Amino acid sequence: MARIALGIPRPRAADPALADLPDTADRPASPALVDRFGRAATDLRLSLTDFCNLRCTYCMPAEGLEFLPKGQLLAAEELVRLVRVGVEQLGVRQVRLTGGEPLTRPDLPEIIAGIAALEPRPDISLTTNAIGLDARAEGLRAAGLDRINVSLDTVVPETFTAMARRPLLHRVLAGIEGARAAGLTPIKVNAVLLPGVNGHELPELLEWCLRRDLQLRVIEQMPLDAGHTWERGAMVTADDVHEMLAPLVRLTPVDEPREGAPAELFEVHDRATGRYRGRMGIIASVTRPFCGDCRRTRLTAEGSVRTCLFSRGETDLRAALRGGASDHELAEIWRAAHWGKAAGHGMDRPDFVQPTRPMSAIGG
Ligand code: 5AD
Ligand code: SF4
Repeated sequence: MARIALGIPRPRAADPALADLPDTADRPASPALVDRFGRAATDLRLSLTDFCNLRCTYCMPAEGLEFLPKGQLLAAEELVRLVRVGVEQLGVRQVRLTGGEPLTRPDLPEIIAGIAALEPRPDISLTTNAIGLDARAEGLRAAGLDRINVSLDTVVPETFTAMARRPLLHRVLAGIEGARAAGLTPIKVNAVLLPGVNGHELPELLEWCLRRDLQLRVIEQMPLDAGHTWERGAMVTADDVHEMLAPLVRLTPVDEPREGAPAELFEVHDRATGRYRGRMGIIASVTRPFCGDCRRTRLTAEGSVRTCLFSRGETDLRAALRGGASDHELAEIWRAAHWGKAAGHGMDRPDFVQPTRPMSAIGG
């Protein structure tokens, strides 16, 4: 196999950004974002901000976090530049905009339009809590947004207020309807279930989603909370989801290639009548990890590459970007960082250590 030296400019090696780059002597001469385990990343999760207007208990502490000052966030043109490097040089084909809450960036339409103008045009999706989406959905759609995932853990107002620590369920629901009216479909609903909080509401949430033609995706809670309170024994697992839904519906695995997608998809039929109701997904990151087929690479809102949600380290691209690096140089740093991607998140290992950054500061 051909080997290449990556040719990262040495003067910048003094830059702390590059200090943690892995040894790339064994890296094959591929333009793609390949790693030692034979995977190639084509799906970019781009965090636009670490700020959020909710305080979901499994993500943020009640008082919030120390959010990044604006100058540390990448500006719209910087974000688009890095996505361009991903698309033109590294084979990125899907871009998911995340946060914190990406709708809190006023320049979101500009960012989307910049990404949509790239060749080949990537698929562009947004993960959002949908607050304020009703007023913005049309504009985002016009800018080039293809699809959205809405984070919604409950449709019971009291439970929402307890989980998100803000009484804003009505705004989320308005946002979902606005997205539908703007044609941002199909809409997926991401729900994290917490035992004793919203776990028992799953049947109700599923029924609510099916009636509105929304695809529910239940996500196992991961150890990414700012308070580091996650306990493996105290989570709703994929098995629990099957057990809870079994009396009501029949879940049949969808017979389509998963292609690195985190969700296992199921067709939902009413148990009693046999009627087809729609689809749902289960994202069992903890109990059925899908790391072996991972196609994701991540950029934090301040422009650092993270090769995994659970990475212990990250590689700063912003310093190189602001220091005048060429697209080629940025691509080389990104490739080198990605070569060090770990085989898996290691949640099952006794020496597993939760990353210091919570989900809101990584980008989901
Ligand atoms: N475990 C699982 N999912 C989480 N999310 C946020 N924190 C966690 C966690 N600790 C979800 C949000 C959102 C998506 C980006 O990630 O609910 O839907
Ligand atoms: Fe905000 Fe999402 Fe974290 Fe909830 S999970 S506080 S919506 S970033």
